[in-house]
Amino acid sequence: MKAVSFSQHGSLDVLEYGDVPDPVLGPGEVLLRIEAAACNFNDIWARQGLPRVTLPLPHVSGTDAAGVVVAIGEGVTGVAVGDQVITYPVRACRRCNACLAGEEVFCKGLKIWGFQTGPFDGSFAEYAKVQVEQVLPKPAHLTWEEAAATTTSLLSVWRMLVTRAQVQPGDQVLIWGASGGTGSFAIQLAKEIGAVPIAVTSSEAKAEWCSKMGATHVLRSDCQDIQAEVARLTDRRGVDVVFDHVGEPVWYTSVECLRWGGKIVICGATEGFEAKIDLRYLWNKQLSFLGSHIGTRKEWVQAMKLVEARRIHPPVTEIFDLPGAIEAQRRMENRQLMGKLAIRIGS
Ligand SMILES: NC(=O)c1ccc[n+]([C@@H]2O[C@H](COP(=O)([O-])OP(=O)(O)OC[C@H]3O[C@@H](n4cnc5c(N)ncnc54)[C@H](OP(=O)(O)O)[C@@H]3O)[C@@H](O)[C@H]2O)c1
Ligand SMILES: [Zn+2]
Repeated sequence: MKAVSFSQHGSLDVLEYGDVPDPVLGPGEVLLRIEAAACNFNDIWARQGLPRVTLPLPHVSGTDAAGVVVAIGEGVTGVAVGDQVITYPVRACRRCNACLAGEEVFCKGLKIWGFQTGPFDGSFAEYAKVQVEQVLPKPAHLTWEEAAATTTSLLSVWRMLVTRAQVQPGDQVLIWGASGGTGSFAIQLAKEIGAVPIAVTSSEAKAEWCSKMGATHVLRSDCQDIQAEVARLTDRRGVDVVFDHVGEPVWYTSVECLRWGGKIVICGATEGFEAKIDLRYLWNKQLSFLGSHIGTRKEWVQAMKLVEARRIHPPVTEIFDLPGAIEAQRRMENRQLMGKLAIRIGS
């Protein structure tokens, strides 16, 4: 089958479009003909390589997909050939206490599909196999590309805002990197909860996009003092929640922007892992720092109800063909995107 793959970590030129081995279906798995995939920043991490993380090579990236079931493995029930489905990115053992309790994010066998799985096991390909627990019916009102773009970002945002930070109506939520995939869903979900999304982004065009997504206020990290603007917007009180995936350079400002008793929820660190803090803030302001990673299948089902109800819409802004996944990664790496980039694979 055709796929975009790489055999060694490195810059964009390690990516190749060409033939790779077809997936071999195992028990409990379903084989999908991928109609569309969507890009996530972990495609960049996988290709570049991460310190102290070993990923299977050769690698096909792609953690989000929508497609048609073309074969089912031994023991699969509830899914049939011909079903149109979307994918959930968590592979897990499905047998340990965490999995049985519906907390597969704590399974020792957790692997994010298309990031930690392989070799040759992601959605930037014509076919892929996933566990049967990783599929749900495709929402009928979405295009293939929109369907593919619903999962990883929305699921992660749901866990961050609903499960971890427990955002309440009226809460002011400062959202860093607000124009990207995670940020665009965070604006929409915060708004849906009845909170007040304060988006932080880096250009005029992206600011307009954040407003379109529903941000109540939009701040510009390229030309504004974010701490001063947050003080002004909150009447010097500070925000209830900071939503972060940028990391090191924004951490100090995040802490400064929080109200007493406020929370930072973080799922990534695109710009660096080594944040510093004056520990006095932690106890004096009685802050909470909450880590969040991907999400459970139950959270995915809950989040998808808002998509089905058309309360949240996958923000696909551009569609590439399969070889174009390389250009899509270039755009993402250079911060030249808004919302979600999708890859059209089927005819
Ligand atoms: N642990 C998890 O479960 C989980 C889940 C989802 C994502 N993540 C992490 O969250 C981060 C964002 O992922 P994503 O898929 O939303 O990516 P994305 O769609 O590319 O969005 C990232 C946004 O962050 C901002 N940004 C700030 N510094 C950047 C830099 N140096 N390079 C690129 N963008 C930068 C940009 O927005 P502005 O220009 O508006 O500032 C950009 O659009 C990644 O680190 C990813 O690994 C983690
Ligand atoms: Zn498990």
